[in-house]
Amino acid sequence: MIDRTTIDRIMDAADIVEVVQDFVSLKKRGVNYIGCCPFHNEKTPSFIVSPAKGIFKCFGCGKSGNAVGFVMEHEQMTYPEALKYIARKYGIEVVEKELSPEEQQQNDDRESMRMLNEFAAKYFQNNLLNDPEGIAIGLSYFRERGFTDEAIKTFGLGYSLEKRDAFTEHALKNGYKLDFMTRTGLTIVNEETKRRYDRFFGRVMFPVYSISGQVIGFGGRVLKTAEKTAKYVNSPESEIYNKSKTLYGLYQARTEIVRQKKCYLVEGYADVISLYMAGVHNVVASSGTSLTEDQIRIIHRLTDDITVLYDGDSAGIHASIRGIDMLLSQGLNVRVLLLPDGEDPDSFAKKYGSEKTIEYLNTHEEDFIRFKTRLSKTEADKDPLKRAAMITDIVRTISVIEDQIKQTVYLQECSKILEIDENTLYSELMKLRRKKIMDGKGPAGQAFPSKPEPKLPEPKQVPTATGNKEIGFLSKEHEIIRILLLYGNKVINNPLDHNRENPQRLKAAELMVALMLQGNITELRNKVNQQIFKEISDAVINGREISEKEFINSPDPAISSVAADACASSYELSKMWEKHGSVYYKEENKLGEIITDVYRKYLLEIRKDEKKQLSAELKVQMETSKNLKSELTAIEANGNSEDEIEKLRTAVAESDNKSIEILKRINEITQEIKELSITQGRVTI
Ligand code: CTP
Ligand code: MN
Repeated sequence: MIDRTTIDRIMDAADIVEVVQDFVSLKKRGVNYIGCCPFHNEKTPSFIVSPAKGIFKCFGCGKSGNAVGFVMEHEQMTYPEALKYIARKYGIEVVEKELSPEEQQQNDDRESMRMLNEFAAKYFQNNLLNDPEGIAIGLSYFRERGFTDEAIKTFGLGYSLEKRDAFTEHALKNGYKLDFMTRTGLTIVNEETKRRYDRFFGRVMFPVYSISGQVIGFGGRVLKTAEKTAKYVNSPESEIYNKSKTLYGLYQARTEIVRQKKCYLVEGYADVISLYMAGVHNVVASSGTSLTEDQIRIIHRLTDDITVLYDGDSAGIHASIRGIDMLLSQGLNVRVLLLPDGEDPDSFAKKYGSEKTIEYLNTHEEDFIRFKTRLSKTEADKDPLKRAAMITDIVRTISVIEDQIKQTVYLQECSKILEIDENTLYSELMKLRRKKIMDGKGPAGQAFPSKPEPKLPEPKQVPTATGNKEIGFLSKEHEIIRILLLYGNKVINNPLDHNRENPQRLKAAELMVALMLQGNITELRNKVNQQIFKEISDAVINGREISEKEFINSPDPAISSVAADACASSYELSKMWEKHGSVYYKEENKLGEIITDVYRKYLLEIRKDEKKQLSAELKVQMETSKNLKSELTAIEANGNSEDEIEKLRTAVAESDNKSIEILKRINEITQEIKELSITQGRVTI
């Protein structure tokens, strides 16, 4: 933990222009700076840096934030990592808070291990490029495989000499402690003879980097294919190397994954490097093991879209397909890409070159569930006995998707592909759900798992403020936050007070909060907006001033990004962006009207959205009823136990009741929408 004082010192020292300029070339334009946005491809600059406010904002893709946020986004660093980066830049000593002596020791140990790995990586690289043995054996091997100098450098490839203790001796001579050499696994000590050996000898070396670029482990590949030893030797798990939390190539791929909003997943070191050389930079490998939840979470931090590349032999596909349900249940959009028979990504990229590889990737990927359904169908056609098992299997995959609307769409599609009645698949899904409930894995007393909260796009990825597209209520929510941050402290006439002579005076924020309370809106939908709104409401209630600076410098990068975004659209910046709308000039004078108007528009959007969701829910609920009923007819005819029949009857009744409730609510909302739409017309700005 970095303590608050240090964070404040870092924030004070950070000059946003200097920090950004290390990565983006900026030109001065008035009081601000302008450049090409590093977060999306653009030819005309729309990336603004405001030194006065300490923020950046792209008017093309909508990204915004303070200096720390910029480093986090650009370098894919965590918050503390970005803080430390800036601290280093300004020579600020980082004080880590409340570390016990043991923790301090552990930290120091881990740092020593990382330094040793760094040293080892340099040593192996030097062997490869400068040692006669390294050049003759290692470098020529890479050359044969077509690895370029650039790729060798980017991935830090190296070579370990054949002499069995070459590295260990070299490291000891340079003052590294044997303890750390064994703890990183670079050195192995024979228990009996006490002799020390290198783990890696006579192999080409692939360093494994953490997401922030530290060497945490190695893979070493044998050169002579005839040798009976394992093809790869890998560093063991250690205090700094946790395989299940590591993805090979992530450090090199991270910015491109974010930029392209997509991640390719392959199996091996060579696949990553060959695709990289073919110009596909957003690629990582799970390194032979099957994908873990931690690895998925790491990818998910960067993107929602993942495409898994499969070799052309089907044995591998079946093994790894099982792991993919996990990706789906985490809410990732999974696509698969099948390479031609006998090719892996490495051989394919070598054979066809950059252009054809990229084209192939762009044109051959397929939605995972569709892919799996087709694959299963081909097999079930060969062996009809497998048909029932196949249906269950596919429905199980569909059942892990949390979004019920998506589920329905998949059921429809799969029923087409499999040429099976949709209702059959549906009741299969129902059975699975009931089983889950009986097993205690689902919510009790409910035929359906409750509907998950709608997932909203992160605000920073949504273009804002300048008339770019932004969906429904989210854009209004943003507007509410913007007004609160920019003008919350301004004292205005209360537009709800009709005493024309002597209208009540109140703060703009008070008005907004009061209106929201009136409309029974206690929370904004978006998590970050809600946090800001809550703090502002608290301030209003306690009579405190609202400080935009405090929000911009919030330790929560999401908050700081939204605050920066709001402030970027204020007077100064908007002057430069007149073409995007000159409303900002006047809005201060008409605050009362603007606030009531924004509030009503927001309410309208919220209600419309609620109605949409309820309608979808109603459809699902009615289908549930229908299926439950046909099931009931079936088990009644079957002569199942009274108990079972009774249970199902109750379920049918409950489901019907639910439909009615939903319908009632829809009618109420429809009425409210009508009223809101009428008042809309009356308000003018
Ligand atoms: N692997 C491993 N140990 C092995 C074999 C494989 O750790 N004995 C891991 C490595 O991370 C490897 C991945 O599994 O990159 C995929 O294996 P494979 O396809 O055999 O390796 P490639 O990277 O394709 O290596 P090459 O093309 O050099 O044979
Ligand atoms: Mn290979």
